[in-house]
Amino acid sequence: MTKQARSGPASVWNNIEGIAFGGDYNPEQWPVSVRLEDLELMQEAGVNFLSVGIFSWALLEPAEGQYDFGWLDEVMDNLHSIGVKVALATATAAPPAWLVRRHPEILPVTADGTVLGPGSRRHYTPSSAVYRRYAKGITRMLAERYKDHPALALWHVDNELGCHVSEFYGDEDAAAFRGWLERRYGTIEALNSAWGTAFWSQNYGSFEEILPPGLAPSTLNPGQQLDFQRFNSWILMDYYRELVAVLREITPTVPCTTNLMASSATKAMDYFSWAKDLDVIANDHYLVAADPERHIELAFSADLTRGIAGGDPWILMEHSTSAVNWQPRNQPKMPGEMLRNSLAHVGRGADAVMFFQWRQSFAGSEKFHSAMVPHGGRETRVWREVVDLGAALKLLEPVRGSRVESRVAIVFDYEAWWASEIDSKPSIDVRYLDLLRAFHRSLFLRAVSVDMVHPSATLEGYDLVLVCTLYSVTDEAAANIAAAAAAGATVLVTYFSGIVDEKDHVRLGGYPGAFRELLGVRVEEFRPLLAGSQLKLSDGTISSIWSEHIHLEGAEALQTFTEYPLDGVPSLTRRPVGSGAAWYLATFPDSNGIESVVDRLLGESGVAPVAAADPGVELTRRRLADGRSFLFAINHNRSGSSVQAVGTDLLSGERFDGTVPAGGVAVIAED
Ligand code: GAL
Repeated sequence: MTKQARSGPASVWNNIEGIAFGGDYNPEQWPVSVRLEDLELMQEAGVNFLSVGIFSWALLEPAEGQYDFGWLDEVMDNLHSIGVKVALATATAAPPAWLVRRHPEILPVTADGTVLGPGSRRHYTPSSAVYRRYAKGITRMLAERYKDHPALALWHVDNELGCHVSEFYGDEDAAAFRGWLERRYGTIEALNSAWGTAFWSQNYGSFEEILPPGLAPSTLNPGQQLDFQRFNSWILMDYYRELVAVLREITPTVPCTTNLMASSATKAMDYFSWAKDLDVIANDHYLVAADPERHIELAFSADLTRGIAGGDPWILMEHSTSAVNWQPRNQPKMPGEMLRNSLAHVGRGADAVMFFQWRQSFAGSEKFHSAMVPHGGRETRVWREVVDLGAALKLLEPVRGSRVESRVAIVFDYEAWWASEIDSKPSIDVRYLDLLRAFHRSLFLRAVSVDMVHPSATLEGYDLVLVCTLYSVTDEAAANIAAAAAAGATVLVTYFSGIVDEKDHVRLGGYPGAFRELLGVRVEEFRPLLAGSQLKLSDGTISSIWSEHIHLEGAEALQTFTEYPLDGVPSLTRRPVGSGAAWYLATFPDSNGIESVVDRLLGESGVAPVAAADPGVELTRRRLADGRSFLFAINHNRSGSSVQAVGTDLLSGERFDGTVPAGGVAVIAED
């Protein structure tokens, strides 16, 4: 999983000592006296990395062509004076009012034709040539001004591309969509064939006739919908690349990135396809306070981010010290939760821990969002925890550059996520992430480490490969997965996988098309369940959502359905393949059923937990190229818990005595 070293931009890590620590710094909200106090507080907390100027365009260029860099000069110099490195933003995530007034055509348009106005942020469409021209203008000014500044370590391009608005339906977007389609298909005949337009009289005579899939009397062409998702993901990256081209020209050695939002909640961008254009992967992650298993969702998002990074260390560019302000009820974090969250990200491969934002605003939309310096200043729990976190991260310097070890891969594909959830499927209850997260959760609770891997990436070195709801799959990816089984891995494929190709065309001759041979089964008919119904399986497992009529064609049945009309029909099968095996799961088992499947898969593949520990302790291991390893043990229990490990706890500096205190964390440099 090592990516090719890139020529050109230097590694951001060359510029930073230890684990990076800091956050978004928006000093333009504050008078000089406060900015000076910031410097003191930053040193107290051990901050060494900040993202600066993300939403500051209107202050940097208050009127077209008139610039005021004075305040930013001062901020950059002051940060440099205390040894802080800067991820300098292109300032393009919120166009200034003068630009909108002069060029309202830059505003984004929704599917129903509504123009989204200014007064907030992210009010532009990435297709707009005018917007790109102005965005490149301010980017160039910033690059020219700060190209030699010693604090500059990274370009932070725009911000969370696709946040708030990720589908663009205006006239200029439609033209860009047509251009993208023409490049993809070459001829209108090829497009007609890909979209299956012979059905419902949807045939196009030329590319000019095509529109984005807006509002229509009934369901829209699925090929058109899928391509529109691909296009929107692409156009955002195309805009990013245009800004990066300016930065490369002026600062060829300064790395560039943009902050992703990889999590269970962000579907619109294919981050695996974006990764090659980012010099380092950066991610933002926010917990959903109402989710009692939010630490498991965090682990899922961090594992996904590491997968996008190809296993390389990544930047946690934003998370929150405590409450956010955009959920219905914004509960603060529990005492110690911020440390557990931060070190869970580090345990899963982050070499930078950053927050939105440094100092809590007194005005504006986010004044009730937590920050590193709360409204109450030093006399707050959050500030004390921030200072403690800074100290803890300093002690973790030896961990930097190490990689997370996993023997289990979960195949993850945004395209399959999109395609499987377009309308008019056998059941609305088939959601791409549901089974995938059920397996991830089970492995998390067992302290088994998991990598998220794109279906076309190498699966070498994994003993267990889980392929969940991979509805669409290319021939190459299907062959890649089959090769993993042949080479000795245990591969599990779940229902509604391998059904269509990348054009969303059904693979004919029996489901699950692309995996039929590998699995040694043929599915004759899907039997999704009605809402609330359950099935009993032969070993007593209860399942829901899905069943199907399977015929064995080389596989053996390990478990069967027991109810009419599928009584005796296999629900779980296994076929030996090469030195490995291919398993197939044809229903959605309840959590006991998932546990029993996972027991069997781990048993066969010989994959063990990262270490032995009490339940409720999250475990990951990072290893350096020289073999030294670090065991991250995060105790989510409110009592001390035991972990079997031998070594020195980097956080306490003492020999690890086998117990992690209630709610605490140990990072054990193993003997
Ligand atoms: C992110 C955004 C930040 C801030 C944060 C609040 O989406 O990048 O600017 O708004 O959310 O949680």
